[in-house]
Amino acid sequence: MARHLITSAIPYINGIKHLGNLVGSQLPADLYARYLRARGHEVLFLCATDEHGTPAELAAAKAGKPVAEYCAELHQVQAEIAKGFRLSFDHFGRSSSPQNHALTQHFAGALEREGLIREVSETQMYSKADGRFLPDRYIEGTCPNCGFESARGDQCDNCTKQLDPVDLINPHSTISGSTDLEMRETKHLYLRQSTMKDRLEKWIDTREGWPVLTTSIAKKWLNDGDGLQDRGITRDLDWGVPVKKGDQDWPGMEGKVFYVWFDAPIEYIACAQEWVEAGKGDDWERWWRTDKGADDVRYTQFMGKDNVPFHTLSFPCTILGSNEPWKLVDYIKSFNYLNYDGGQFSTSRGRGVFMDQALDILPADYWRWWLLSHVPETSDSEFTWESFQSGVNKDLADVLGNFASRVTKFCRSKFSEAVPEGGQRGAREEQLIADLTAKIREYEAHMEAVEIRKAAAALRAAWVMGNEYLQEVAPWSTFKTDPEQAAMQIRLALNMIRLYAVISAPFIPDASAELLEAMHATDAEWPTDVAAALEVLKEGHAFTVPDVTFRKITDAEREEWAERFAGVRD
Ligand code: 2FM
Ligand code: ZN
Repeated sequence: MARHLITSAIPYINGIKHLGNLVGSQLPADLYARYLRARGHEVLFLCATDEHGTPAELAAAKAGKPVAEYCAELHQVQAEIAKGFRLSFDHFGRSSSPQNHALTQHFAGALEREGLIREVSETQMYSKADGRFLPDRYIEGTCPNCGFESARGDQCDNCTKQLDPVDLINPHSTISGSTDLEMRETKHLYLRQSTMKDRLEKWIDTREGWPVLTTSIAKKWLNDGDGLQDRGITRDLDWGVPVKKGDQDWPGMEGKVFYVWFDAPIEYIACAQEWVEAGKGDDWERWWRTDKGADDVRYTQFMGKDNVPFHTLSFPCTILGSNEPWKLVDYIKSFNYLNYDGGQFSTSRGRGVFMDQALDILPADYWRWWLLSHVPETSDSEFTWESFQSGVNKDLADVLGNFASRVTKFCRSKFSEAVPEGGQRGAREEQLIADLTAKIREYEAHMEAVEIRKAAAALRAAWVMGNEYLQEVAPWSTFKTDPEQAAMQIRLALNMIRLYAVISAPFIPDASAELLEAMHATDAEWPTDVAAALEVLKEGHAFTVPDVTFRKITDAEREEWAERFAGVRD
């Protein structure tokens, strides 16, 4: 048994996330957490809302609410939807928590003590029309790196380059649209990342088996162009963590806050403190402090590719630079983008299916299965309604659901609602058990390597084996000539339903729970010994025919939804 710390990139507070966001971090992180828990490991799975910076301020202004009130409301909304998708966070925190304020200020103090912060007097974009500086998302323009026209002041969404507002070509204010901008003098803190290039490079080079996507992005920003740049970590904004070193004021920095990307990853740690504060745990240090036992923890982070530079460079700079014994990430699993029906999902344009809308039309498991089995692991992938309908109807309804329903209904009609007695397993059954064992071991290996599509394919293949067995041994025919033999086949098949429920739970937790309940199963142990797991439901064990576990999506529904979600949401 090992200890696993798992974090998902923390979603911005500004509204309900779309399915592309969900599949790019929270959902795969949940799959991994559920799997590891099922294997008996100790898991701490954390996520939070990312509440500072311009995304929060702009969204609150649009909603006509004070930003603190807006964040509190939206945190609740996001927490409820996360529950709806069965995201099994041990804690869903808030980056605006007092714990994160204190810890962010603590890190700034430590970095200053280590000589890694310099104060810079610089000119920043000031909008006369808006009467304020325009950091990050308050400004948009053309990306100097790739020419994308809607690059934001802090990062280009198209090429992932981290930017400074002054880099943008043809910049304009996103508040008023004004291009009447001027450069004004202001003072900011810079993290001297450039001095840490060698340490970071060494650290990245010693990470074993990181996904190519993760290391290639990290190396690109480490070595491309001018290499690792020092980074401004403060902003002229009202909302955020006030600039302090520890609990001391920082002369000259009054009225300024830390940059959202400085405090957001620190929330991964603060969230563990919030988890303790909420009475859900009693020791956060054994997860996060290497001097308090966290050396034994394996820490895995999940995120979309646009987040990789911040997690491979910026946040490790904060951790390493503090010269304090904090836990560093062991494995970064990053994802490409999920596109929507021939274009991009877009929060700002309201394009695609949003998490609340998805749950309004179908239960979580339907989405979880399709999204995870199509997760954009090696390249971008695309959501289409045809693919969704086919994934649900074929994999869930025809393969898994149909197996459970055929077997239980047949048993009820020919025997009873109890595991039938009699008959002896033969060579065909031994073969099936051997094949299932091999497939489940393959599934486990993919899960451990966080190869999600491969894991989904192995799981589906295990479901298919059940149907093939039934098709081949045809208990409905056997029953006519040899009811004892049919009883043995059905007994094995009933045990397979329980086995499938156990191994499928990380992907489709609700359906798994329903199947376990229908089988009146109290044992949901992972099948380390598949042969033994297929003997758990003994002769005479009562069960109930489950309600329809998965229903099919009709062509009419598919067409209706495709049309309903073709436009943009307000
Ligand atoms: O891209 C995003 O959605 C960011 N809010 C992720 C932040 S992850 C972190 F905390 F570093
Ligand atoms: Zn770009």
